[in-house]
Amino acid sequence: MTADELRNKYIEFFVSKGHAQIQGKSLLPDNDPTVLFTTAGMHPLVPYLLGEEHPAGKRLVDYQKCIRTGDIDSVGDASHLTFFEMLGNWSLGDYFKEGAIEMSFEFLTSPQWLGIPVEKLGVTVFKGEGAVPRDDESAAVWKRLGIPENRIAYLPREDNWWGPAGSTGPCGPDSEMFYYVGDAPCGPDCKPGCSCGKWLEIWNDVFMQYNKNAEGAYEPLARKCVDTGMGIERTVTILNGKKSVYDTDIFASIINAIGEAAGGYRYGDDAEKDKSVRIIADHVRSATFILGDPKAVSPSNVGAGYVLRRLIRRAVRHGRKLSRDVQHHADVQQHTDTQQHESSSGAYSEGSRFLSPIAVVIVDQLKGPYPELQENRTFIMTELDREEEKFMETLQKGEHEFEKLLPNLLKDPRKIMSGRLAFKLYDTYGFPIELTEELAAEQGMKVNREEFDDAFKKHQELSRSQSSQTFKGGLGDQGEMAVKYHTATHLLHKALRMILGDHVAQKGSNITAERMRFDFSHGAPMTQEEVQKAEAIVNEQIQKDLPVSMEVMDLDTAKASGAIALFGEKYESQVRVYTIGNSPADFFSKEVCGGPHVERTGTMGKFTIQKEQSSSAGVRRIRAVLE
Ligand code: SER
Repeated sequence: MTADELRNKYIEFFVSKGHAQIQGKSLLPDNDPTVLFTTAGMHPLVPYLLGEEHPAGKRLVDYQKCIRTGDIDSVGDASHLTFFEMLGNWSLGDYFKEGAIEMSFEFLTSPQWLGIPVEKLGVTVFKGEGAVPRDDESAAVWKRLGIPENRIAYLPREDNWWGPAGSTGPCGPDSEMFYYVGDAPCGPDCKPGCSCGKWLEIWNDVFMQYNKNAEGAYEPLARKCVDTGMGIERTVTILNGKKSVYDTDIFASIINAIGEAAGGYRYGDDAEKDKSVRIIADHVRSATFILGDPKAVSPSNVGAGYVLRRLIRRAVRHGRKLSRDVQHHADVQQHTDTQQHESSSGAYSEGSRFLSPIAVVIVDQLKGPYPELQENRTFIMTELDREEEKFMETLQKGEHEFEKLLPNLLKDPRKIMSGRLAFKLYDTYGFPIELTEELAAEQGMKVNREEFDDAFKKHQELSRSQSSQTFKGGLGDQGEMAVKYHTATHLLHKALRMILGDHVAQKGSNITAERMRFDFSHGAPMTQEEVQKAEAIVNEQIQKDLPVSMEVMDLDTAKASGAIALFGEKYESQVRVYTIGNSPADFFSKEVCGGPHVERTGTMGKFTIQKEQSSSAGVRRIRAVLE
């Protein structure tokens, strides 16, 4: 079964069960300071899991592009990925455990759908912990459907509980489904969830029953929901009996393209080179999707832009290494009788583009389910090329500096390069430690890695305390101040359009309990007068104590009524429109938006713009506070 077939079947099945197919959302969540990327299918649905009505109804299904960077350093092995697609179905106060499990079972086992033999399946359910009892209800449903008791494992919170994705938010016990690939149990306790490697998880039904609040307490949700998640890559691997996700149709042409770009390498020939191929394949996929997103960021030194930069640079580094090794191999073959050695300037370092031809294959493969990749094709390729070029310069500079250090380094009889020196190369020239190690190894030397790590850690501590939260993945801050700032973005957006013109469009926003940032398209810095005017207009609306109201309507009606919708963002056919103003005819602002917002603007406080600066080419950034 191919990834396309699985995606289509899943959607078709749940639509046949009364679910509305909704559009997956951006990879870069808005108004959520705790997370850089969408990390699960449920992420964009958090407000609805917490009780809001969804315009498309109570039963939903979709596929969602996701990025998780927590395991980025493990990418290169057989299974870890940063980018993946997640299939999911949701019940918002509709069916609960029984309905969810019955549908999961039917989709997995019915010959019309996945047709997995029941004997191959096992499940886990929540064992009970604290105030939450053992999930006998789910176990009883599984048994009724034909899963024998010895294939049901009762596991603690550590294994059978999902969420919240951040520090607060919806969560609950889950029931996970496993595919058995062994012949015999590894021992008497071998059950689903066993770490022997024979039980492979394919799906997770989460029974969202609680909201973990800021005090860490679990409050029952007003309405019980179901959130399920099935990773496409992992499931395709298992259903095809493959050992690695890189052996599936998902990666076949990408891996071919990498082999070609490297000057003719055949995947499977060499373990070390294969690892580089896998890193490149995963990282270019993530980078392509980040750049192809309607809310794309460019490589930079902060936030999502920084992750993007890291992904691209790591892919370049491995591309370069792979090309050099392939080239070296070819040279050695041709000149076995000479002293020929690799030169640090293989074909790849002479200005050829390694990544974009690989990205072309990715765009072509996935532009069906993700048309935004096609729409943003030029941007993806230009940005990849530009970042690759920049990094190549860095590498060349670093290599040059290394060569200058070399005579001194070679004097050390222990053949150890100081970690502090390696850190200086990193800090001053952005030269990655792995490359310093590679160059040192070529001279028969080792880098004192402990010393490097020490220096690195000290350097990171400051910046990390600020940004580490955002790497973990989490849910939006729905606190009182965040809600006020959210409404302030609408007021500011409108004020800017009034002052600067209708070309002003929101390019992003970032909200914490302390401040808001708002990015918008505008070609020149704002004058002081314009800034003061914007501030005054927003404050005027706050003083008027305008009511904020919400209506669900179809997207065309919303646009026709004057609502601003973000260009390039995907919306459902039914959308929520927030109006700030006294009546549908006499309003200040109207925007398509998921909310939440304040009820009246009078509660927001005084609005002050602290800074107006450039964000990127053609995009300005405003930082403002409410006091
Ligand atoms: N949220 C759950 C997960 O990510 C199920 O969708 O596994």
